Amino acid sequence: MKLLLLSCLLLTAGLVAGYRSALNDFQRSEGRELVPTPWNSARVQMLPGLNLEDCATRCSQSLDCRAFNYETRPTVTCKHLPWVGDGNNAEVKRNVNCDLYEKKVYVRKCIVGKGEDYRGKVFTTKSGLTCQQWWSKFPHDHRWTPTATNGLELNYCRNPDGDRIGPWCYTTDPERRYESCNIPQCKDEVCITCNGEEYRGQVDHTVTGRECQRWDQQYPHQHIYQPEKYPDKSLDDNYCRNPDASPVPWCYTTDPEVERERCDISKCTEVRVEKRQRSSFTTNCFRGRGEDYRGKVNETTSGIPCQPWDAQEPHEHPFYPNTYECKGLEENYCRNPDGSEAPWCFTSVPEMRTALCLQIKRCADDIEAEDCYHENGRNYRGMVRKTRKGITCQKWNVNTPHRTRINQRTHPEANLTENYCRNPDGDQHGPWCYTTDPKTEFDYCAIKQCAGEKVSMTEPEEKVEFSECGKRDDRAQRSRLRIVNGVPGNSPWTVSLRDRKGNHFCGGSLVNPRWVISTKQCFSSW
Ligand SMILES: *[C@@H]1O[C@H](CO)[C@@H](O)[C@H](O)[C@H]1NC(C)=O
Ligand SMILES: *[C@@H]1O[C@H](CO)[C@@H](O)[C@H](O)[C@H]1NC(C)=O
Repeated sequence: MKLLLLSCLLLTAGLVAGYRSALNDFQRSEGRELVPTPWNSARVQMLPGLNLEDCATRCSQSLDCRAFNYETRPTVTCKHLPWVGDGNNAEVKRNVNCDLYEKKVYVRKCIVGKGEDYRGKVFTTKSGLTCQQWWSKFPHDHRWTPTATNGLELNYCRNPDGDRIGPWCYTTDPERRYESCNIPQCKDEVCITCNGEEYRGQVDHTVTGRECQRWDQQYPHQHIYQPEKYPDKSLDDNYCRNPDASPVPWCYTTDPEVERERCDISKCTEVRVEKRQRSSFTTNCFRGRGEDYRGKVNETTSGIPCQPWDAQEPHEHPFYPNTYECKGLEENYCRNPDGSEAPWCFTSVPEMRTALCLQIKRCADDIEAEDCYHENGRNYRGMVRKTRKGITCQKWNVNTPHRTRINQRTHPEANLTENYCRNPDGDQHGPWCYTTDPKTEFDYCAIKQCAGEKVSMTEPEEKVEFSECGKRDDRAQRSRLRIVNGVPGNSPWTVSLRDRKGNHFCGGSLVNPRWVISTKQCFSSW
């Protein structure tokens, strides 16, 4: 049986090895459609029934295709378009049954390497001169001729000869023949603070130059970071991200031999770091999971002194204060550098590796709205006004930063009040709102479907069934409160993990008669 399984695996691996997805050429916008203006609609190429990968492959290979709409309802349709969503030819619109994929080289505002593939629309040089049209020989005569393949379009900056100055152009100033356009390298375009958990830039190669694997794909490497499961981590396309509090952003690679690798991204200057972070720090209590707790509690819940972070005695560990910058790993204070449930520390007793510091109180203002919606949330009338990525919603009756095509006038029955999350158009993913972030037109809200209702078809893996013992508590799931109605001593599914001498060293939850879930720091062998 085992042998059979192994040979099956090898077969799949063989098929996948060395395979690069054409989708790597594209940037995806979920729930959007690129709609051509009426006089352009004849230029859309309809390819019904193609699967996503084939739709992308054909677009990659076609010079006339710069983007495609991938519609899943009412029928699967691949629509190739000769534009991206930045011009006058077509407009990006909300369509819950469609995803828009645009070729990265046309939408990216940065370059990789010398930028030979840059197809952006910058047409001024670094000193501010306007570029000369490539088809024109005036004021500067030259040897280039625009063709279908070389990308020499209008007067846009390009690098047809692989010049080390990056994309350039002939200028319209007779005194200045050509000049670089200073298009930034992707690794410098958006800089990172701390360990780059907030990084949302467009680097898609690792430090050794390997191309990243898309987060929404499971090959060549299988992994747990599916974008829909970690909505607040922005696991977009195949861009470097840091969903697991690693020291720097990283990605899975398209090389079957190398699972994951870190990415090389510029660090921001110190000043910006401090300013942004300080406002969220707390000292007498903690919010969320306490990642921003900077107080001076230096012992565990049961009163055991903590081990200093810069020491490796009695416990060896990877949390060097220098590696985990900005995590406040000073002295022996309780901290949460790794996204655990609450602040914790290594303890000063050899028998107990780590323990949480639950004597630190949760801040009074940290109570989150406990809210849920029924069915698809069309009748949701609650007051949540924040998206799953934490962005504040835009009011339904204003048009900035986004034009509200759906509003009180178009949907009078939908109670589009203030900036509350609603579902006026029956979106299958539930209540949503336009957001106050200019880069994100809309997003789904930080509300879940109410307990006991059938889970939507897109997330079948969400369906968890426990036996009698260890019932899943949906209230704990929905809000970020990790302990619901718990009083020490009265929680039947809470487990105390003890060493051989009977000392408590960690807590856990019983999820099944034979299984306990706890955190990895509780065990020295992780
Ligand atoms: C913990 O902090 C208190 C007060 O800040 C200090 O007096 C004490 O020495 C510290 N304990 C350890 C073990 O560092
Ligand atoms: C929405 O409902 C609330 C409470 O039911 C009501 O006070 C408000 O006027 C309604 N707003 C709109 C725009 O219908």
